Amino acid sequence: MQRVTAEIFAPSKHAFGLALGVQPVIVCRSNRLANAMTTVSSSVSSLITSLGEIPPETVIFGHSETMQSLRERMDKVASANVPVLIQGESGTGKDIIARMIHARSPWRTGPFVKVNCPAIPGTLLESELFGYEKGAFTGAYGSKPGRVELAHRGSLFLDEISELDLALQSKLLQLLQDGQFCRIGAQEDKKVEVRVVCATNRRLEEEIETGTFRQDLFYRINVVNLHLPPLRERRGDIEDLVAYFLEYYNRKYNCRARALSLDLMSALQKYHWPGNIRELENLIKRYVILGNEEVISSDLVGREQEFFNPDINLDGPISLKKLTRQATRELERKVILKVLQAHHWNRKQTARALSISYRALLYKIRDSGLPANRSKRRPEVIAGQVAAAD
Ligand SMILES: Nc1ncnc2c1ncn2[C@@H]1O[C@H](COP(=O)(O)OP(=O)(O)OP(=O)(O)O)[C@@H](O)[C@H]1O
Ligand SMILES: [Mg+2]
Repeated sequence: MQRVTAEIFAPSKHAFGLALGVQPVIVCRSNRLANAMTTVSSSVSSLITSLGEIPPETVIFGHSETMQSLRERMDKVASANVPVLIQGESGTGKDIIARMIHARSPWRTGPFVKVNCPAIPGTLLESELFGYEKGAFTGAYGSKPGRVELAHRGSLFLDEISELDLALQSKLLQLLQDGQFCRIGAQEDKKVEVRVVCATNRRLEEEIETGTFRQDLFYRINVVNLHLPPLRERRGDIEDLVAYFLEYYNRKYNCRARALSLDLMSALQKYHWPGNIRELENLIKRYVILGNEEVISSDLVGREQEFFNPDINLDGPISLKKLTRQATRELERKVILKVLQAHHWNRKQTARALSISYRALLYKIRDSGLPANRSKRRPEVIAGQVAAAD
């Protein structure tokens, strides 16, 4: 069974703040599309999830100057129908920003179609995105619109855009240039009006240099760039975020976890947050559920030891040996992850590429906390987070 990889919704008046449990609606203004969508309703329905709650703006943007200017940029760009590229480390809130852009765009009453590119196998991605005609390939018993088409007069959110292969990148380029695309097996191009929002936690400039991302596509999607800072660069917002998550999860789980002690707050302020706001949220969620600060404190200490923290504390004793060991470990983890990704998570090929034995690779994957296979390679897992019960 394929993982849920796309969400389609049209925001209602509940879109912000009260959206929990809202049933998503597909809004479609063209009859032709509406008919087409009816024929695929069963497959699409499996892709629909509820919108989920978006935190209040004061929490999302906090106090830092970077976030304030980001908010201004976002407000301006939302009303203009131009492509937007959202960049930032995993867990910094790219998803939230993409939804906010849609909710403020001229097509806010249209569909918001999210495509989680890495979650769809490369071979299926083209048909998922652009659709197909009957008989286009073995098993194509009927025609099916792709998500590009379903996003007509709405927003198409391409999450982790760097995962598109070069052939799909050129199809996307055509879509961005003239709004045209072609279903697999179709004789003619179709036209859609769609606002494209892309997100990535990679540096696309580097992907261009290595030849895995088209430069012309980069210019097309990067008309406006919104860069979300990592949490360690907006430490001033940690306290408010903690208060928000505490209140939220106390309410959600009907718990009464108390405000954090000053010691723990100060530990949170010092921690380097590789998993960013998602990591902080999960930590507070665990605290609310377990109601015990000690679990969180010892967890933090463990994480500090596990990951290399480049913010070297000059106030205490410095162990060069320990720092070097941590840095080497972190570098090894990054290299293995990159090579695994390059080989589509094929561990035999990865071991060959790294000139180590298959067994050694398996050991290193386990040792570095990387997920064992592609389906689990969510960045928050890679960042070593322990997801709390939900
Ligand atoms: N500014 C914020 N205020 C409050 N909560 C936030 C904020 N940013 C992110 N979160 C929360 O952190 C979690 C991760 O956010 P989100 O999914 O938007 O991150 P992302 O950048 O898309 O991560 P990834 O690259 O892993 O997909 C979500 O549960 C979200 O609600
Ligand atoms: Mg995301």
